[in-house]
Amino acid sequence: MSITNDVEQQTMTATTPVFPATFLWGTATSSYQIEGAVHEDGRGQSTWDVFAATLGKTYQGETGEVAVDHYHRMPQDVEIMAQLGIGAYRFSLAWPRIMPDGRGSINTRGLDFYDRLVDALLAKGIRPIATLYHWDLPIALHNEGGWLNRDTAYAFADYAEVVARQLGDRVGTWITHNEPWCSAYLGYGAGLHAPGIQDMQSAATAGHHLLLSHGLAVPRLRTHTHTGTQVGIALNFTPVYAADDTPETAQAKARADRFNNRWFVEPLYKGVYPEHLFEDMGVRPPPIQDGDAAIIATPIDFLGVNNYSRMVVRGNAAKPDGIEYIAPVPGATYTEMGWEVYPQAIGDLLTRLHKEYGVASLLITENGAAFDDKVDDDGKVSDPQRVAYLREHIHAVGHVLAQGVPVQGYLVWSLLDNYEWAEGYSKRFGIVYVDYATQQRVIKESGHWYAAFIASQKRGLYTPTAQ
Ligand code: FCB
Repeated sequence: MSITNDVEQQTMTATTPVFPATFLWGTATSSYQIEGAVHEDGRGQSTWDVFAATLGKTYQGETGEVAVDHYHRMPQDVEIMAQLGIGAYRFSLAWPRIMPDGRGSINTRGLDFYDRLVDALLAKGIRPIATLYHWDLPIALHNEGGWLNRDTAYAFADYAEVVARQLGDRVGTWITHNEPWCSAYLGYGAGLHAPGIQDMQSAATAGHHLLLSHGLAVPRLRTHTHTGTQVGIALNFTPVYAADDTPETAQAKARADRFNNRWFVEPLYKGVYPEHLFEDMGVRPPPIQDGDAAIIATPIDFLGVNNYSRMVVRGNAAKPDGIEYIAPVPGATYTEMGWEVYPQAIGDLLTRLHKEYGVASLLITENGAAFDDKVDDDGKVSDPQRVAYLREHIHAVGHVLAQGVPVQGYLVWSLLDNYEWAEGYSKRFGIVYVDYATQQRVIKESGHWYAAFIASQKRGLYTPTAQ
């Protein structure tokens, strides 16, 4: 415990905000990034298995075949969370583990894994937060068009009901999709993620079907879970800042914002796509059918917010779309992902979502940073940059909370180092280090810091401040 106490003393200051006792402190992961065991217990293939195995798609051809072996090490990983004093854990369910063909027959062995996980969490007093879809689409559905096929949205709603029936008596917080922007744009527009399609028209169509699937799943989740269950969606946001005051820059900022931040939140909270969005993307509107807008805008209980960084833009007619992205920003620090560390962005973002979209409950479903962590000669992992990142972002959240922005919790991405998609294992986001050769876990300094921070919050050590 002495490490924890030392860290606590060094990092808590008089300005550390105090969060409400009900505020959730947790961590997040996703199925394909941590589970491994891709051939076990009847799991079907996902688009990520196929994409990662395709030459040149991921860093050094790395795949999630073994990942951090969480499928076998789940009890130990839950134990680590308990040791850290984590109050909530966001994980995702692998659709192909539960329904190997995407629809129809249910693989009980796959479902059993999540049953055991949920029970293990509850036994330690950790609140389970289940995400239905974090990008691992059953390959059988992809073969029928994946998210380009409207039927996938109906298959998703059926899958939602299957898991809700099984876990709905114990899981009280549900997230339909993780970052549909990434599923649609990175998967179907830029081709950087599975299934690797490069076509903006397809991105727009996939985005619409993802939104539709969300709206169709919400009532299915509500019907088959206990009362008081919270249902939401997790969107990624990268706030855009202007480099100067010119009208060209204002225009560039608006355009970057439409695409990066408004594409999904607007249909969800306002029932319409942002004006000019599809024009900007150079595509026709997606196939929207009568009634879709209302389904998509079905009221939800909270908005999950994934935020890591910001972007700074300047209007420049010589650049594509008239947008010049300023990087590096002079004097700024960057993570291993090349993302600027700018804690104010998360506060500005939460405030905007509350004010502009009327979001009544916000949950930070991902925030964190990748750094080049190493185990030192004493077997410890010192990651002061991540400690600073987490502390500053948490303070920024505390600041807006004190001003009345309704934030209910904060989940660090990630509990464990893991498979960072196209970046393979080259980027470490964990507050727990994983030695990929031995699968040994080592709590990083940031993990100890987070544990100490949570403990201090539980004891209500500090006075709230809104500076
Ligand atoms: C988010 C993803 C998550 C992880 C982090 C770094 O976009 O939801 O799986 O890769 O980025």
